[in-house]
Amino acid sequence: MTATHPVDQLMSEHRIIENVLSAMEARTAEMTPATFPAVFFDQALDFFRNFADGYHHYKEEDALFPMLKSRGVPEEGGPIGCMLKEHVFGRSCLAGIRENLEAARGGSAEAVEAVRRFANDYIGMLRQHIMKEDTVLFRMARHILEQPDVEKLERQFSNPDNPRITAEVRQKYESLAARLTVDAA
Ligand SMILES: [Fe+2]
Ligand SMILES: [Fe+2]
Repeated sequence: MTATHPVDQLMSEHRIIENVLSAMEARTAEMTPATFPAVFFDQALDFFRNFADGYHHYKEEDALFPMLKSRGVPEEGGPIGCMLKEHVFGRSCLAGIRENLEAARGGSAEAVEAVRRFANDYIGMLRQHIMKEDTVLFRMARHILEQPDVEKLERQFSNPDNPRITAEVRQKYESLAARLTVDAA
């Protein structure tokens, strides 16, 4: 059995992340202080922190991007630097949601609006980010990376000693994403 190409793995993770972004968009559009979906946001934050960021962005930042840099793709002023800045911006949006969650759960209209703003910023940014990776950076990666690079990435992505990116983590968050998506439908 051949392993899935690392870029295909990352793209399949994008599809899971997009599903949860759509679920969050639907919840965010309809929520009021009286109907604030606190449990949804608890779970969505868990998903975005530990899967979109902890699992997926980790694989990009610690494996794919350094590999592309070693093959001559510049960080500063190029697509990698732009992607890294967007990962940082995403973390600040998630922190904004987290900081307002308890007050929003308690019915504060101001906190609910803050959650809505941070969630919308996150959704808009991450959709564009994913599109840029799929159509620019990942396309570039397929073109530039040679077979030994691909094999090294495959080994890094399936390293059982790295607790952030185990198969169990993927399975856990894939099921959570499916639940969050169905609940929001
Ligand atoms: Fe990314
Ligand atoms: Fe990505």
